[in-house]
Amino acid sequence: MPAIPLLQDISACVFDAYGTLFDVGSVARGAQEELGGRWQALSDLWRGKQLQYTWLRGLSGQHADFWQVTGEALSFAMASLGLADQGLHQRLMDLYLRISAYPEVPATLAGLQAKGVRLAILSNGTPAMLAAAVANAGLESRFEALLSVEEVGVFKPDPRVYHLASQRLNLPMGQLCFLSANGWDAWCAKACGMKVLWCNRTGQMPECLPAAPDGELRDLAGLPGAIGY
Ligand code: LAC
Repeated sequence: MPAIPLLQDISACVFDAYGTLFDVGSVARGAQEELGGRWQALSDLWRGKQLQYTWLRGLSGQHADFWQVTGEALSFAMASLGLADQGLHQRLMDLYLRISAYPEVPATLAGLQAKGVRLAILSNGTPAMLAAAVANAGLESRFEALLSVEEVGVFKPDPRVYHLASQRLNLPMGQLCFLSANGWDAWCAKACGMKVLWCNRTGQMPECLPAAPDGELRDLAGLPGAIGY
């Protein structure tokens, strides 16, 4: 893995939510009793289809919010595995609101805040989904803004989403460090002019897309040491 760079002149860290701060796998894992050994397959199908639907809705100009898309992706994933159970669908959606933060997240955010770095989330999630996840993890006091794509009415990676962070935090794109575990999200944020660190939690190959991130982390624990203020 490349050495973690020191990024200078960063005023704010802006985090992707799902997969970056919050462990998407924790949702189906929470229903392991019902799902048994199929929880991982369901989780992977669900997440993959959820992202596909955001891109398809963006390209076809048929936006619906992330709560609806997440529910529709879950319906597809459950049907793919022969699971027809409306109660289970409801339970998994309820669990999505109580998604777990990755273990290093609370200390990372506290460390950044202690350095005076401003913190925000920029996510496909609806305002209600983001508020629930942040409250469940006890992280309300860490973020000055939970920015949802609902403010611009289109999903990532539409450039309007990334520019929303600059507008709402009143900072130039180059003073924002964006963190995402989703390679496509990291690459597209970089193409819009943000500084970007890719949190490559699962050892993915780098994307073959036009703009590469400024650096790569395995998790968020090293972030406070990588940000110069
Ligand atoms: C988000 C998705 C991309 O939180 O994980 O925006």
